[in-house]
Amino acid sequence: MAITGNDIEVAKEFLMKGELVAIPTETVYGLAGNALNDSAVLSIFEVKNRPAFDPLIIHTDSLEKVQQYVSDFPEKALQLAVRFWPGPLTLLLPKKQIIPDLVTSGLDNVAVRVPNHPLLLELLKELPFPLAAPSANPFGYISPTNAGHVNAQLGEKIAYILDGGESEVGIESTIVGFENDEPVVYRLGGLAVEDIEEIVGKVKLMPHSSSNPKAPGMLKSHYAPRKPLYLYERGIFPAGDDELTGYLVFDKYLEGIDLKYQRILSKSGDMKEAAHNLFAFLRELDTLSVEQIRAERVPSEGLGLAINDRLQRAAAK
Ligand code: TXA
Ligand code: MG
Repeated sequence: MAITGNDIEVAKEFLMKGELVAIPTETVYGLAGNALNDSAVLSIFEVKNRPAFDPLIIHTDSLEKVQQYVSDFPEKALQLAVRFWPGPLTLLLPKKQIIPDLVTSGLDNVAVRVPNHPLLLELLKELPFPLAAPSANPFGYISPTNAGHVNAQLGEKIAYILDGGESEVGIESTIVGFENDEPVVYRLGGLAVEDIEEIVGKVKLMPHSSSNPKAPGMLKSHYAPRKPLYLYERGIFPAGDDELTGYLVFDKYLEGIDLKYQRILSKSGDMKEAAHNLFAFLRELDTLSVEQIRAERVPSEGLGLAINDRLQRAAAK
Protein backbone atom coordinates (compact mmCIF):
# COMPACT_ATOMS: atom_id res chain seq x y z
CA MET A 1 0.00 0.00 0.00
CA ALA A 2 1.15 3.52 -0.73
CA ILE A 3 1.46 6.17 1.97
CA THR A 4 -1.70 8.26 1.93
CA GLY A 5 -1.95 11.78 3.32
CA ASN A 6 -2.80 15.37 2.55
CA ASP A 7 0.67 16.87 2.86
CA ILE A 8 1.56 18.83 -0.27
CA GLU A 9 5.18 19.20 0.88
CA VAL A 10 5.59 15.42 0.83
CA ALA A 11 3.93 15.22 -2.57
CA LYS A 12 6.18 17.98 -3.85
CA GLU A 13 9.31 16.26 -2.62
CA PHE A 14 8.51 13.03 -4.45
CA LEU A 15 7.56 14.87 -7.64
CA MET A 16 10.75 16.95 -7.59
CA LYS A 17 12.71 13.68 -7.47
CA GLY A 18 10.92 12.41 -10.59
CA GLU A 19 8.71 9.99 -8.68
CA LEU A 20 4.99 9.47 -9.14
CA VAL A 21 2.23 10.72 -6.85
CA ALA A 22 -1.50 10.12 -7.14
CA ILE A 23 -3.35 13.44 -7.09
CA PRO A 24 -6.95 14.39 -6.35
CA THR A 25 -8.84 16.38 -8.96
CA GLU A 26 -12.48 17.40 -9.20
CA THR A 27 -13.02 14.89 -12.04
CA VAL A 28 -11.13 11.72 -11.09
CA TYR A 29 -7.82 10.93 -9.35
CA GLY A 30 -4.71 11.25 -11.52
CA LEU A 31 -1.35 9.44 -11.59
CA ALA A 32 1.04 12.38 -11.74
CA GLY A 33 4.65 12.97 -12.65
CA ASN A 34 6.84 15.85 -13.83
CA ALA A 35 5.65 16.44 -17.41
CA LEU A 36 9.03 17.90 -18.43
CA ASN A 37 10.99 14.87 -17.23
CA ASP A 38 11.12 11.98 -19.74
CA SER A 39 11.85 9.31 -17.16
CA ALA A 40 8.94 10.38 -14.91
CA VAL A 41 6.63 10.36 -17.93
CA LEU A 42 7.86 6.91 -18.95
CA SER A 43 7.10 5.52 -15.51
CA ILE A 44 3.52 6.79 -15.81
CA PHE A 45 3.03 4.64 -18.92
CA GLU A 46 4.67 1.66 -17.18
CA VAL A 47 2.71 1.85 -13.94
CA LYS A 48 -0.60 2.22 -15.78
CA ASN A 49 0.28 -0.38 -18.36
CA ARG A 50 -0.73 2.20 -20.90
CA PRO A 51 0.21 1.99 -24.59
CA ALA A 52 2.69 4.69 -25.61
CA PHE A 53 0.38 5.87 -28.42
CA ASP A 54 -2.15 7.21 -25.90
CA PRO A 55 -1.00 10.75 -24.93
CA LEU A 56 -1.24 12.43 -21.52
CA ILE A 57 -2.95 15.58 -20.24
CA ILE A 58 -0.75 18.16 -18.50
CA HIS A 59 -2.06 20.04 -15.46
CA THR A 60 -1.06 23.40 -14.07
CA ASP A 61 -2.63 26.12 -11.92
CA SER A 62 -3.21 29.08 -14.22
CA LEU A 63 -3.92 30.22 -17.77
CA GLU A 64 -0.69 32.24 -17.67
CA LYS A 65 1.33 29.09 -17.02
CA VAL A 66 -0.52 27.17 -19.73
CA GLN A 67 0.59 29.87 -22.16
CA GLN A 68 4.21 28.92 -21.46
CA TYR A 69 3.55 25.47 -22.90
CA VAL A 70 1.41 26.17 -25.99
CA SER A 71 2.29 28.13 -29.13
CA ASP A 72 -1.19 29.20 -30.20
CA PHE A 73 -4.43 30.01 -28.40
CA PRO A 74 -7.41 30.44 -30.76
CA GLU A 75 -9.94 33.08 -29.66
CA LYS A 76 -12.61 30.53 -28.78
CA ALA A 77 -10.11 28.46 -26.80
CA LEU A 78 -9.29 31.54 -24.79
CA GLN A 79 -12.96 32.28 -24.14
CA LEU A 80 -13.49 28.73 -22.87
CA ALA A 81 -10.35 28.82 -20.72
CA VAL A 82 -11.32 32.13 -19.13
CA ARG A 83 -14.84 30.92 -18.40
CA PHE A 84 -14.23 27.32 -17.27
CA TRP A 85 -10.74 27.13 -15.73
CA PRO A 86 -10.14 25.94 -13.15
CA GLY A 87 -12.58 23.18 -14.10
CA PRO A 88 -13.33 19.94 -15.97
CA LEU A 89 -12.23 21.22 -19.39
CA THR A 90 -9.16 20.01 -21.34
CA LEU A 91 -8.00 21.95 -24.40
CA LEU A 92 -5.91 20.50 -27.25
CA LEU A 93 -3.49 23.21 -28.38
CA PRO A 94 -0.24 23.30 -30.41
CA LYS A 95 2.63 22.45 -28.10
CA LYS A 96 5.84 24.34 -27.57
CA GLN A 97 9.07 22.42 -27.83
CA ILE A 98 9.53 22.32 -24.06
CA ILE A 99 6.79 19.66 -23.86
CA PRO A 100 8.40 16.22 -24.46
CA ASP A 101 7.14 14.17 -27.42
CA LEU A 102 6.55 11.33 -24.96
CA VAL A 103 3.76 13.33 -23.33
CA THR A 104 1.92 13.88 -26.62
CA SER A 105 2.83 10.51 -28.18
CA GLY A 106 4.53 12.49 -30.92
CA LEU A 107 1.48 14.61 -31.78
CA ASP A 108 1.77 18.36 -32.40
CA ASN A 109 -0.96 19.22 -29.91
CA VAL A 110 -0.73 18.97 -26.15
CA ALA A 111 -3.76 18.42 -23.90
CA VAL A 112 -3.85 20.99 -21.08
CA ARG A 113 -6.11 21.69 -18.17
CA VAL A 114 -6.32 23.70 -14.95
CA PRO A 115 -8.08 21.38 -12.49
CA ASN A 116 -10.46 22.71 -9.84
CA HIS A 117 -9.33 21.17 -6.58
CA PRO A 118 -7.98 23.37 -3.75
CA LEU A 119 -5.29 20.98 -2.49
CA LEU A 120 -4.03 20.20 -5.98
CA LEU A 121 -4.02 23.87 -7.01
CA GLU A 122 -1.88 24.63 -3.97
CA LEU A 123 0.57 21.91 -4.99
CA LEU A 124 0.65 23.02 -8.65
CA LYS A 125 1.38 26.58 -7.55
CA GLU A 126 4.50 25.40 -5.79
CA LEU A 127 5.86 23.24 -8.58
CA PRO A 128 8.30 24.56 -11.18
CA PHE A 129 6.81 22.22 -13.83
CA PRO A 130 3.36 21.01 -14.99
CA LEU A 131 2.11 17.54 -14.04
CA ALA A 132 1.38 14.92 -16.66
CA ALA A 133 -1.48 12.85 -15.27
CA PRO A 134 -3.76 10.22 -16.72
CA SER A 135 -6.53 8.81 -14.57
CA ALA A 136 -4.96 6.69 -11.79
CA ASN A 137 -6.35 3.30 -12.85
CA PRO A 138 -4.83 0.38 -14.70
CA PHE A 139 -5.37 1.00 -18.44
CA GLY A 140 -8.94 0.15 -19.46
CA TYR A 141 -10.42 -0.11 -15.95
CA ILE A 142 -12.85 2.27 -14.19
CA SER A 143 -11.31 5.61 -13.15
CA PRO A 144 -10.81 6.20 -9.38
CA THR A 145 -12.83 8.86 -7.56
CA ASN A 146 -11.24 8.52 -4.13
CA ALA A 147 -7.87 7.65 -2.57
CA GLY A 148 -9.04 4.15 -1.58
CA HIS A 149 -9.78 3.29 -5.23
CA VAL A 150 -6.24 4.30 -6.18
CA ASN A 151 -4.67 2.36 -3.33
CA ALA A 152 -6.59 -0.79 -4.19
CA GLN A 153 -5.21 -0.90 -7.72
CA LEU A 154 -1.95 1.00 -7.91
CA GLY A 155 -0.97 1.28 -4.25
CA GLU A 156 2.00 -1.05 -4.64
CA LYS A 157 3.45 0.99 -7.46
CA ILE A 158 3.40 4.61 -6.33
CA ALA A 159 5.22 6.57 -3.66
CA TYR A 160 2.41 8.69 -2.27
CA ILE A 161 -1.32 9.28 -2.62
CA LEU A 162 -2.37 12.86 -1.97
CA ASP A 163 -5.80 12.42 -0.42
CA GLY A 164 -8.18 15.23 -1.30
CA GLY A 165 -11.42 13.42 -0.54
CA GLU A 166 -14.02 12.35 -3.07
CA SER A 167 -13.83 13.72 -6.60
CA GLU A 168 -16.84 15.96 -6.84
CA VAL A 169 -17.58 15.74 -10.58
CA GLY A 170 -16.84 12.01 -10.84
CA ILE A 171 -16.18 11.67 -14.58
CA GLU A 172 -13.18 12.82 -16.61
CA SER A 173 -12.82 16.26 -18.17
CA THR A 174 -14.44 17.22 -21.46
CA ILE A 175 -11.78 17.40 -24.20
CA VAL A 176 -12.08 20.18 -26.77
CA GLY A 177 -9.79 20.58 -29.79
CA PHE A 178 -9.94 23.04 -32.69
CA GLU A 179 -10.32 22.66 -36.45
CA ASN A 180 -9.66 25.93 -38.24
CA ASP A 181 -10.06 27.59 -34.86
CA GLU A 182 -13.55 26.10 -34.40
CA PRO A 183 -14.15 23.96 -31.28
CA VAL A 184 -14.65 20.18 -31.61
CA VAL A 185 -15.54 17.98 -28.62
CA TYR A 186 -13.36 14.83 -28.72
CA ARG A 187 -14.35 13.42 -25.35
CA LEU A 188 -17.62 14.02 -23.55
CA GLY A 189 -16.98 14.67 -19.87
CA GLY A 190 -17.59 16.65 -16.72
CA LEU A 191 -18.33 19.93 -18.51
CA ALA A 192 -21.67 19.69 -20.34
CA VAL A 193 -21.76 20.46 -24.07
CA GLU A 194 -24.63 22.91 -23.42
CA ASP A 195 -22.36 24.95 -21.13
CA ILE A 196 -19.66 25.11 -23.80
CA GLU A 197 -22.14 26.15 -26.47
CA GLU A 198 -23.39 28.98 -24.30
CA ILE A 199 -19.96 30.59 -24.64
CA VAL A 200 -18.85 29.71 -28.20
CA GLY A 201 -22.03 28.67 -30.05
CA LYS A 202 -22.67 25.30 -31.68
CA VAL A 203 -19.79 22.85 -31.44
CA LYS A 204 -19.03 19.73 -33.43
CA LEU A 205 -19.09 16.43 -31.51
CA MET A 206 -16.54 13.80 -32.53
CA PRO A 207 -16.38 11.63 -29.44
CA HIS A 208 -16.27 8.29 -31.23
CA SER A 209 -13.01 8.51 -33.07
CA SER A 210 -12.16 5.09 -31.58
CA SER A 211 -8.51 4.17 -31.69
CA ASN A 212 -7.35 6.94 -34.00
CA PRO A 213 -4.62 8.43 -31.83
CA LYS A 214 -4.93 11.76 -33.66
CA ALA A 215 -8.14 12.20 -31.79
CA PRO A 216 -8.08 11.56 -28.04
CA GLY A 217 -7.46 7.89 -27.30
CA MET A 218 -11.10 7.11 -27.10
CA LEU A 219 -10.77 3.40 -27.40
CA LYS A 220 -14.02 1.58 -27.93
CA SER A 221 -13.66 -0.58 -24.86
CA HIS A 222 -12.63 1.44 -21.82
CA TYR A 223 -13.73 2.41 -18.31
CA ALA A 224 -14.79 -1.22 -17.90
CA PRO A 225 -15.52 -3.25 -14.77
CA ARG A 226 -14.20 -6.83 -14.59
CA LYS A 227 -17.68 -8.36 -14.66
CA PRO A 228 -19.46 -8.23 -18.02
CA LEU A 229 -21.69 -5.17 -18.25
CA TYR A 230 -24.87 -5.13 -20.34
CA LEU A 231 -26.52 -1.87 -21.27
CA TYR A 232 -30.28 -1.38 -21.74
CA GLU A 233 -32.62 1.36 -22.80
CA ARG A 234 -34.10 3.23 -19.87
CA GLY A 235 -36.57 1.14 -17.85
CA ILE A 236 -36.30 -1.91 -20.10
CA PHE A 237 -34.48 -4.69 -18.29
CA PRO A 238 -35.00 -8.37 -19.18
CA ALA A 239 -37.37 -10.19 -16.81
CA GLY A 240 -36.63 -13.17 -14.58
CA ASP A 241 -33.40 -12.27 -12.87
CA ASP A 242 -31.71 -13.96 -9.97
CA GLU A 243 -29.07 -13.10 -7.44
CA LEU A 244 -26.30 -13.30 -9.98
CA THR A 245 -26.95 -9.84 -11.38
CA GLY A 246 -26.08 -6.37 -10.08
CA TYR A 247 -28.13 -3.42 -11.34
CA LEU A 248 -27.15 0.18 -11.98
CA VAL A 249 -30.36 2.20 -12.31
CA PHE A 250 -30.84 5.89 -13.00
CA ASP A 251 -33.59 7.27 -10.74
CA LYS A 252 -35.92 4.40 -9.80
CA TYR A 253 -35.20 1.14 -8.00
CA LEU A 254 -36.40 -2.00 -9.76
CA GLU A 255 -39.28 -3.74 -8.07
CA GLY A 256 -38.85 -7.31 -6.89
CA ILE A 257 -35.07 -7.16 -6.76
CA ASP A 258 -33.17 -7.07 -3.48
CA LEU A 259 -31.81 -3.56 -2.87
CA LYS A 260 -28.41 -4.95 -2.04
CA TYR A 261 -28.00 -5.78 -5.73
CA GLN A 262 -29.04 -2.30 -6.89
CA ARG A 263 -27.32 1.09 -7.04
CA ILE A 264 -29.30 4.19 -7.92
CA LEU A 265 -27.39 7.03 -9.61
CA SER A 266 -29.73 9.81 -8.45
CA LYS A 267 -33.16 9.46 -6.85
CA SER A 268 -34.06 12.98 -7.96
CA GLY A 269 -32.77 12.44 -11.51
CA ASP A 270 -29.99 14.98 -11.00
CA MET A 271 -27.29 14.47 -13.66
CA LYS A 272 -24.51 15.97 -11.57
CA GLU A 273 -25.26 13.58 -8.72
CA ALA A 274 -25.48 10.71 -11.22
CA ALA A 275 -22.07 11.53 -12.72
CA HIS A 276 -20.57 11.87 -9.24
CA ASN A 277 -21.79 8.36 -8.32
CA LEU A 278 -21.19 6.55 -11.62
CA PHE A 279 -17.69 5.10 -11.25
CA ALA A 280 -17.90 4.47 -7.50
CA PHE A 281 -21.12 2.50 -7.96
CA LEU A 282 -19.74 0.51 -10.89
CA ARG A 283 -16.86 -0.48 -8.63
CA GLU A 284 -19.23 -1.50 -5.84
CA LEU A 285 -21.29 -3.64 -8.20
CA ASP A 286 -18.09 -5.15 -9.56
CA THR A 287 -17.13 -6.33 -6.07
CA LEU A 288 -20.52 -7.91 -5.25
CA SER A 289 -20.83 -11.68 -5.58
CA VAL A 290 -22.64 -11.36 -8.90
CA GLU A 291 -21.69 -12.63 -12.33
CA GLN A 292 -22.87 -9.71 -14.41
CA ILE A 293 -23.92 -6.09 -14.22
CA ARG A 294 -26.94 -4.58 -15.94
CA ALA A 295 -27.16 -0.84 -16.43
CA GLU A 296 -29.73 1.42 -18.01
CA ARG A 297 -29.04 4.44 -20.17
CA VAL A 298 -29.76 7.82 -18.62
CA PRO A 299 -31.56 10.68 -20.42
CA SER A 300 -29.29 12.28 -23.06
CA GLU A 301 -29.12 15.77 -21.60
CA GLY A 302 -26.40 17.70 -19.80
CA LEU A 303 -23.87 15.31 -18.25
CA GLY A 304 -26.16 12.44 -19.31
CA LEU A 305 -24.33 12.37 -22.66
CA ALA A 306 -21.02 11.70 -20.94
CA ILE A 307 -22.58 9.14 -18.57
CA ASN A 308 -24.05 7.19 -21.50
CA ASP A 309 -20.72 7.42 -23.31
CA ARG A 310 -18.91 5.82 -20.35
CA LEU A 311 -21.59 3.12 -19.97
CA GLN A 312 -21.35 2.34 -23.68
CA ARG A 313 -17.58 1.92 -23.50
CA ALA A 314 -17.80 -0.08 -20.29
CA ALA A 315 -20.20 -2.42 -22.08
CA ALA A 316 -18.22 -2.84 -25.29
CA LYS A 317 -16.25 -6.06 -25.38
O1 TXA B 1 -10.37 14.57 -15.97
C1 TXA B 1 -9.36 14.19 -16.57
O2 TXA B 1 -9.13 14.56 -17.73
C2 TXA B 1 -8.42 13.25 -15.84
C3 TXA B 1 -7.79 14.00 -14.67
C4 TXA B 1 -6.75 13.20 -13.96
O3 TXA B 1 -7.29 15.22 -15.13
N1 TXA B 1 -7.42 12.75 -16.72
C5 TXA B 1 -7.69 11.84 -17.71
O4 TXA B 1 -6.57 11.42 -18.40
O5 TXA B 1 -8.80 11.43 -17.94
P1 TXA B 1 -6.55 10.12 -19.30
O6 TXA B 1 -5.14 9.96 -19.68
O7 TXA B 1 -7.17 9.00 -18.59
O8 TXA B 1 -7.36 10.55 -20.56
C6 TXA B 1 -6.83 11.56 -21.38
C7 TXA B 1 -7.34 11.49 -22.77
C8 TXA B 1 -6.85 10.25 -23.49
O9 TXA B 1 -7.95 9.64 -24.14
C9 TXA B 1 -5.84 10.79 -24.48
O10 TXA B 1 -5.78 10.04 -25.65
C10 TXA B 1 -6.34 12.19 -24.72
O11 TXA B 1 -6.82 12.61 -23.48
N2 TXA B 1 -5.23 13.07 -25.13
C11 TXA B 1 -4.21 13.48 -24.36
N3 TXA B 1 -3.34 14.22 -25.06
C12 TXA B 1 -3.84 14.31 -26.31
C13 TXA B 1 -3.38 14.94 -27.51
N4 TXA B 1 -2.24 15.61 -27.56
N5 TXA B 1 -4.14 14.80 -28.62
C14 TXA B 1 -5.29 14.11 -28.58
N6 TXA B 1 -5.76 13.48 -27.48
C15 TXA B 1 -5.03 13.58 -26.36
MG1 MG C 1 -8.33 7.34 -18.28
